[in-house]
Amino acid sequence: MQRTTAKESLLAPPPILPPPVKRPKAKKTKKAVVFFEVEILDAKTKDKLCFLDKVRLLSSVHPQWYPARQSIRLDPKGKSLKDEDVLQHLPVGTTATFYFRDLGAQISWVTVFLTEYAGPLLLYLMFYFRVPFIYAPKYDFTTSKHWVVHLACMCHSFHYLKRLLETLFVHRFSHGTMPLRNIFKNCTYYWGFAAWMAYYINHPLYTPPTIYGEQQVRMALVLFLFCQIGNFSIHIALRNLRPPGSKTRKIPYPTKNPFTWIFLLVSCPNYTYELGSWLGFTLMTQCLPVAFFTAVGFIQMTVWAKGKHRSYLKEFRDYPPLRSPILPFIL
Ligand SMILES: NC(=O)c1ccc[n+]([C@@H]2O[C@H](COP(=O)([O-])OP(=O)(O)OC[C@H]3O[C@@H](n4cnc5c(N)ncnc54)[C@H](OP(=O)(O)O)[C@@H]3O)[C@@H](O)[C@H]2O)c1
Repeated sequence: MQRTTAKESLLAPPPILPPPVKRPKAKKTKKAVVFFEVEILDAKTKDKLCFLDKVRLLSSVHPQWYPARQSIRLDPKGKSLKDEDVLQHLPVGTTATFYFRDLGAQISWVTVFLTEYAGPLLLYLMFYFRVPFIYAPKYDFTTSKHWVVHLACMCHSFHYLKRLLETLFVHRFSHGTMPLRNIFKNCTYYWGFAAWMAYYINHPLYTPPTIYGEQQVRMALVLFLFCQIGNFSIHIALRNLRPPGSKTRKIPYPTKNPFTWIFLLVSCPNYTYELGSWLGFTLMTQCLPVAFFTAVGFIQMTVWAKGKHRSYLKEFRDYPPLRSPILPFIL
């Protein structure tokens, strides 16, 4: 039996509603045919948007609200139904009322990530090559005399190139789109911080780490590279949890790759490694805006990791109890 999803085919169950075909004599177990009547109200104003007594798509009544921008809820303030939800399995009678919210214009996740990550990559390089109108004209297209500045540029570019390639070839996202307005917020965050960090690191008056000197830079590079490999390993492990084209979510477990063994203690080790990478970059450059970016990223990732950790606990009864959201035994 085909399934009728809550959103895409708007809560109407065409596959289970064929007009009864008369097949004389053939004795078959009778299937109860259920007819649904569905009314959709605006979640804010409670105005009736449409009433469906037949199989129809909401987007055929209101073409401006294509399925990706629809949020359909059972309760005006409740959670959105999932695309996979089936009307027959929802706690509604044969007359159901649903609430609709417009999620706004949507944009694909891949476009979002590519825009978010290509910006910092290119912006940083503009500062590194000291293109005109950034520093005093006498410094146009000059290069820094400090080797750590060149190393930092390599690390920064490597990080964002890796993220771009992972977005294209590794991640298997479950959501196709996100609201267009988010891209402005996210780009301001990533582009703004990249420009701020790059300005100081590539500044002609920049001074390399002085506390422990070269040894500090070497240690920082080791930490950075270690965490980049770790982060990539986790992304591969997450990818392998989800067969192509599916939205399956499973409990991630350590694999043969030692970088994934941290799954024993942490729910979102990709964020743990991401934090480690930026700590490494902070140590390497000893630059305040980098430390600030690391701190803000850490706060954001902690919020997300806690949410994901809670979802795992809710979804999987046998979820390993030893795990913390982002930092083993701490947070
Ligand atoms: N520096 C910063 O401020 C910062 C902030 C955030 C992220 N990042 C970086 O960006 C990377 C990606 O971030 P993200 O928030 O998208 O990471 P994420 O939520 O952990 O997701 C990574 C990928 O794995 C999938 N996935 C996650 N858990 C899964 C599970 N249990 N079963 C199957 N698939 C699963 C996700 O699919 P879904 O589409 O279903 O989620 C997504 O495709 C991070 O690892 C980090 O390196 C950096």
